[in-house]
Amino acid sequence: MATIDQTMARNQHDHFYRMAKKEGYRSRAAYKLKQINERFRVIRRGDTVVDLGAAPGGWLQVAEKLSGGMIIGVDIQPIRSLDGVITIKGDITSEDTIDRIRQLVKKIDVVLCDAAPNLSGDWSYDHARSIDLAEHALLCAEQILKPGGNFIVKVFQGDMFFDYLQKVRTLFKNVRSHSPAASRKESAEMYIIAKNFRGD
Ligand SMILES: C[S@@+](CC[C@H](N)C(=O)[O-])C[C@H]1O[C@@H](n2cnc3c(N)ncnc32)[C@H](O)[C@@H]1O
Repeated sequence: MATIDQTMARNQHDHFYRMAKKEGYRSRAAYKLKQINERFRVIRRGDTVVDLGAAPGGWLQVAEKLSGGMIIGVDIQPIRSLDGVITIKGDITSEDTIDRIRQLVKKIDVVLCDAAPNLSGDWSYDHARSIDLAEHALLCAEQILKPGGNFIVKVFQGDMFFDYLQKVRTLFKNVRSHSPAASRKESAEMYIIAKNFRGD
C-alpha cells in the first residue's frame, strides 16, 4: 500500500488534480462526472439532481453547471455551501436521510452516487462495503426517481459486482459499466451508468 508521502506526491503531480485546482473544482473527481456526461448524456438542462456521497462537492459543481435546476447534495460529512445547491448532512444508508430528500422534492430526474467507504486495504472487505453503499443508493433511486430517470453509481470491482449490475439491469432499460479516463489507472472503481428508470 502507498505511504501518505507517496500518495501526497502522486496527488501533487496528478494532471486532473492540478486541473481541478486551476479551474476551481473542489475535487479531481469532478472530471469523472464531466467525462461520463460527455459520453452518456445523463444530466440535461433543467434536471433535478440528487448526489449521494457528495463532499467536498466537485460533482455538485459539475451537476449545477450542466443542469441549472434543483441540485441536492448529501454526505455524512458537512459540505461547504455552494451557490445553487441544497446540502443535507446525513447517512445515505438511513431511511431518515431519504425522507429528508423526499421532503424537498417528490420526483427526481437524476440520482448520482460517488460514495465510498474509508478504505481498509482489505480488498474483499472494501468491495463488500462499497456494494452495501451502492445497494442503498439503488434503493434510494428506486424511491425518488421519475420513470425515465437516470442513475450513476460507483462500485469497487469484486465478486459481487456482476450480481449488483444485474439488479440494476432489472430496474433500468439501458445499463453500461464504464471507467472514465479521469479514474486512476490503478483504481478498482467502476461506474455503472443506468438510464431510463422503468418506474411503476
Ligand atoms: C469520493 S468522495 C465523493 C467525491 C465527490 N463526488 C466530489 O466530486 O467531490 C466519497 C464520499 O462518500 C461519503 N460517504 C461515505 N459513506 C457515506 C454514507 N454512508 N452516507 C453519506 N456519505 C457517505 C464520504 O464522506 C465522502 O465524502
